Amino acid sequence: MKIFIDTANVKEIKEVYEMGVLGGVTTNPSIIAKEGKVFEDAVKEITEIVGNDCLIFAEVISLEADGMVKEAKELSKIHPNIIIKIPMCKEGLKAVSRLKGTGIKTTCTLVFSAAQALLAARAGASYVAPFMGRLDDIGSDGLILISDIADIFAMHDIKTEIIVASTRGPMHIIDAAKAGADIATVPYKVIMQMCEHPLTTNGLAKFMKDWESVPKK
Ligand code: E4P
Repeated sequence: MKIFIDTANVKEIKEVYEMGVLGGVTTNPSIIAKEGKVFEDAVKEITEIVGNDCLIFAEVISLEADGMVKEAKELSKIHPNIIIKIPMCKEGLKAVSRLKGTGIKTTCTLVFSAAQALLAARAGASYVAPFMGRLDDIGSDGLILISDIADIFAMHDIKTEIIVASTRGPMHIIDAAKAGADIATVPYKVIMQMCEHPLTTNGLAKFMKDWESVPKK
């Protein structure tokens, strides 16, 4: 399962990119708003950092298909590795369907049911983004959704990739990987949590301490 970062913060993107683990960067209107930059400028800046090696996901804000397609075409001009995020709704499906075969790849976002994921795949989305954490937040089981979508896609040989979104902690990532997701998009904080283990920290501290008693040349 590939690891993407769910942020538009340049410092966070750079650090995780340098760790060599990054396959992509996902944004949404809320994530962009946090950075206080013009949308197109923020996306361009990200492509300049990771564009050659990573996919960059940018979301449309129109609510009808015509506007979504127009925005998708404009955003795609920023960089060849831009993937367009389109919200799951009737108009979104129309836009996904119209963009299919144009060379512009789409992600159907805000997916909260297997039925929505199936429609998105059939409309031609290259990716679907089920929101695991937001389901858990309302007392529903996000993992069941990921597992259902993975089973259905495998059973019917659907090539649309599953990007698990709205991840909240390391166990979400491990559970999603075991359920068969293709990608998890992960906040910076959670990537750092995945990196750490108290036995690693303690083990390294002991190695450093013991090294002090080794005779030096
Ligand atoms: C998906 O790409 C979204 O950007 C994101 O994962 C939403 O996460 P949240 O529920 O933490 O806002």
